[in-house]
Amino acid sequence: MTKHISTILITGSSGLIGSEVVSYFAAEGVRVHGIDNNQREIFFGSGGSTRWNEQRLKEQYPSFTHHEIDIRDRGGLLRLMQSLRPSAIVHTAAQPSHDRAAAIPFDDFDTNAVGTLNLLDAARRVCPEAPFVHMSTNKVYGDAPNRLALVEQESRWEYAEAPWTEGIPETFTIDQSKHSLFGASKVAADVMVQEYGRYFNMPTCCLRGGCLTGPSHSGVELHGFLSYLIKCNLEARQYTVFGYKAKQVRDNIHAWDVANFVARFITTPRTAEVYNLGGGKSNSISMIEAFRLIESISGKPMQYQYSDKAREGDHIVYYSDLRKMQAHYPGWRITRDLTTIFREIHDSWQRRERSLA
Ligand SMILES: NC(=O)c1ccc[n+]([C@@H]2O[C@H](COP(=O)([O-])OP(=O)(O)OC[C@H]3O[C@@H](n4cnc5c(N)ncnc54)[C@H](O)[C@@H]3O)[C@@H](O)[C@H]2O)c1
Repeated sequence: MTKHISTILITGSSGLIGSEVVSYFAAEGVRVHGIDNNQREIFFGSGGSTRWNEQRLKEQYPSFTHHEIDIRDRGGLLRLMQSLRPSAIVHTAAQPSHDRAAAIPFDDFDTNAVGTLNLLDAARRVCPEAPFVHMSTNKVYGDAPNRLALVEQESRWEYAEAPWTEGIPETFTIDQSKHSLFGASKVAADVMVQEYGRYFNMPTCCLRGGCLTGPSHSGVELHGFLSYLIKCNLEARQYTVFGYKAKQVRDNIHAWDVANFVARFITTPRTAEVYNLGGGKSNSISMIEAFRLIESISGKPMQYQYSDKAREGDHIVYYSDLRKMQAHYPGWRITRDLTTIFREIHDSWQRRERSLA
């Protein structure tokens, strides 16, 4: 089935992924409605504010309408859904930080788990045929990937055994491991999105993100590692690495490649799907390697301190096995490599600094 999209509803529209999805569909001539209440500033302080991005979208896209709604407001969401009757929904609003959640467990769960349920049920009541894409996370696997055998290389840890050399597949266990409270609230949302797909036969999809990144991130220490790391390099600020000899590995995907996959799913939806969505093996990088790469781009030394204590439940090596996505959507591939991603983030921080000067 190829779906025609006239109106799309995007939650978290001022954030990294939400804003990229707004741009993607607005450029295609779709009427785009965004929901965001700048909760990111409340979670992370003024450095996390996404107002600048909301403003940019309003100025750039006449077909974009912003709605200042909290996704915890069940009635408000339902009323908006009834007035818009969208032909697709992309849910990116969240409390996104693994580390922040323990200090704000109710805000975290009410936003990530209950907020997702509010949106799902409003969709079921108003437009159950609309493709519903949910941004999930690799933290649903908890720290179970840390039980895999690893080998230590000069600048990174690497999977030692054959089943994992292409990365972590969707069949990996999400059970009986340490997730962080954030990971647990995202598991609740992920399972609920799958359930609305299977139980109500809705075209839902969970995208379990690796490190999603790009120039529109309002990176802060507690969320948006690459954006924050590059900001620290530019400002000669000290970056703290937590554990694993700074050889921990993450896969990074540009927000545009995420938006491009979202568009493909919406155009040709499936039911109750789950995909691991990251940069995959080719876009994986360790902390030490990331320091070297940004130094080569900015020409500035990376200043960092090392703490022996790893973050609770943090992955040693994680990269996504992209083969299921590529089998279901053969036209999709990673289009931005690590050097391009680093350059774009570097240039965007420089532009934002100049505009504030
Ligand atoms: N960035 C990553 O590395 C990454 C990795 C894996 C998964 N994800 C997931 O992808 C999604 C998007 O992440 P992101 O990096 O774009 O996050 P982000 O923080 O940049 O954007 C989220 C937006 O949602 C808004 N928001 C938060 N709570 C809200 C509420 N209660 N009501 C209305 N708006 C609210 C925020 O103000 C923010 O603008 C999240 O679900 C996140 O868990 C992100």
